[in-house]
Amino acid sequence: MKLIKTTLLVTMMSSLLCAETPKNSVLESVVNDGTQATQTLLQTLQSHMQEHMKKGGVMDALDFCSTQAYALTDEVNSKLPNGISAKRITLKTRNLANEPQTDESKVLKDLESKKELSPYVVEKVDAHTYKFYKPLVIDKPLCLKCHGEISTDKNLQSAINEKYPNDKAINYKMGDLRGAVVVTIKK
Ligand code: HEC
Repeated sequence: MKLIKTTLLVTMMSSLLCAETPKNSVLESVVNDGTQATQTLLQTLQSHMQEHMKKGGVMDALDFCSTQAYALTDEVNSKLPNGISAKRITLKTRNLANEPQTDESKVLKDLESKKELSPYVVEKVDAHTYKFYKPLVIDKPLCLKCHGEISTDKNLQSAINEKYPNDKAINYKMGDLRGAVVVTIKK
């Protein structure tokens, strides 16, 4: 179980950040933009998923996730301010489109290796580009329905296997790091 240390404001990954550390005011606005975009994306995905859960249970929610989660992410992006985009990444993909880039998988591996989970990580990519990472944890029993031991529900298991023959996103436990939201911000 990873603990979230809320007092730690930012993890500077010296190996990933360019030599110069972003000025405080820039860092602050990266964190604000990143936090807002993360909330918009997660709230949009989760509220739609919950609606489907209520309406038609886990099979309906699965159908929503597999047919609309990716398109809905695009839709959220079209409404974010210019120069800001958000996506979900993981080291254990269900949808291969959510595979991390090389720098992103380094951040995920680093997050996984630590005892205490940083609330977020900021990476400076180049002179004008930053990436804000918000770790995503399996923090609700609901997540386990589709990312835990799915073999307990044969219908669900076969629907997931059919849609995602290369699915790696199972057998998680409460508190496991599932991945992250990455917000790319151009300043
Ligand atoms: C009803 C089933 C279902 C539930 C419940 C569910 N997920 Fe997923 N999840 C999926 C599916 C299906 C995908 C693939 C979506 C796609 O194809 O774009 C997915 C994708 C993801 C991804 C993107 C990475 C990847 O592997 O493609 C993350 C991160 C994620 N889920 C986290 C969570 C978290 C955290 C919870 C709990 C709040 C949760 N999920 C609950 C079905 C579910």
